Amino acid sequence: MDKTKDNKAGQMSKGSGQAYHAGPSFDASPERFREAHPDDQFSGASGVLFEQAMAQTRMAICLTDPNQDDQPIVFANRAFRELTGYSEEEIIGNNCRFLQGPESDPAAIAKIRTAIEEEDVTVVELINYRKNGEKFWNALHIGPIYDNDGKLLYLFGSQWDVSDVRAARAEELYAKEMARELSHRMKNMFAVISGIVNITGRMRGVESEAREINNRVQALGRAYETTLDEASSGNIQIGEAIRAILEPYDLGTGRLILKGNGAKVPFNVVSGVGVTLHELAANAERHGAWSRETGRVEVDWRMAGEKRDELVVSWLERGGPPVSPPREDLGSGNAIIDRLVRHSDGTIQRDWNTDGLHVTITFPAS
Ligand SMILES: Cc1cc2nc3c(=O)[nH]c(=O)nc-3n(C[C@H](O)[C@H](O)[C@H](O)COP(=O)(O)O)c2cc1C
Repeated sequence: MDKTKDNKAGQMSKGSGQAYHAGPSFDASPERFREAHPDDQFSGASGVLFEQAMAQTRMAICLTDPNQDDQPIVFANRAFRELTGYSEEEIIGNNCRFLQGPESDPAAIAKIRTAIEEEDVTVVELINYRKNGEKFWNALHIGPIYDNDGKLLYLFGSQWDVSDVRAARAEELYAKEMARELSHRMKNMFAVISGIVNITGRMRGVESEAREINNRVQALGRAYETTLDEASSGNIQIGEAIRAILEPYDLGTGRLILKGNGAKVPFNVVSGVGVTLHELAANAERHGAWSRETGRVEVDWRMAGEKRDELVVSWLERGGPPVSPPREDLGSGNAIIDRLVRHSDGTIQRDWNTDGLHVTITFPAS
């Protein structure tokens, strides 16, 4: 690379040192550049503004001269020097491609070339190398600068190290891929469990029991499925799981009314909520509100307790057959609910109101 080419900015004197130069952000390169290009409208107030902006900004900025062979850099501010690790003498007079290396994507470089040819503004992310050989992702923004007569005067380039942003994006992508894979495996696992239950049920002549067990397993599967997207963030939007569990009972007739908000709970609450709601729904279909066409079930959920560390789920049936008083044997569905709620250190209250069953369940969710 020919560093002797029209290296005016690099040869400039430091200048007069006016008041605005004082302070830690002092950078003489904009002033030197301005003095080297007196004809480029860098005089007067706009020139002073240019100097201050270039010197103080944390964004790396350079100008190249498209009217010289191989478009050498004619100006690079301090942020550019800090980003790349090169001194002004090493930068000025070179084409910016000296920042590229083995892992710089040729497609990205071609995109820059086209933009330059077409005097277009473009943003390209590509791998560049600092003087010490360290790689970084450079979000490069380039564009043309014209004089008052519309003649192309300079090309402007700003460089931003987006390595951290790229790493965060890659991590997020990885987490999403993992969740997708997990979801796939989980669906497979539930399908296998279903198959086993069905076959065993058929072989033992207990098909309807097998179906009942299967429905429970499927409800749990649906509840878990919704948690995968958020698995990496720890807490789960319980509303999504509730919706997924009860969806098959909705039938699009408006008989299911979901009223809860965006409460978030730890993952372990999901099984309790999933199985409980499934049992309540199955009971409502068999004996409760959903055994009548006019029947409605309203489900609400919210965080409660002094520390808002308790999930309260309310199940309210309306429009069903008259509710009969509780029997001694609550049936296997209810027995399962009771056991699950107890196991989760929760509480359950059933109010057998004449116009419909009202169940309030709490789960500790800290
Ligand atoms: C103003 C300006 C700034 C540029 N800055 C960079 C840069 O920071 N990093 C980089 O890899 N390429 C940068 N380039 C692109 C290269 O200078 C060059 O145009 C590119 O490699 C395509 O040309 P080539 O195929 O001749 O190498 C910049 C170009 C211009 C005009």
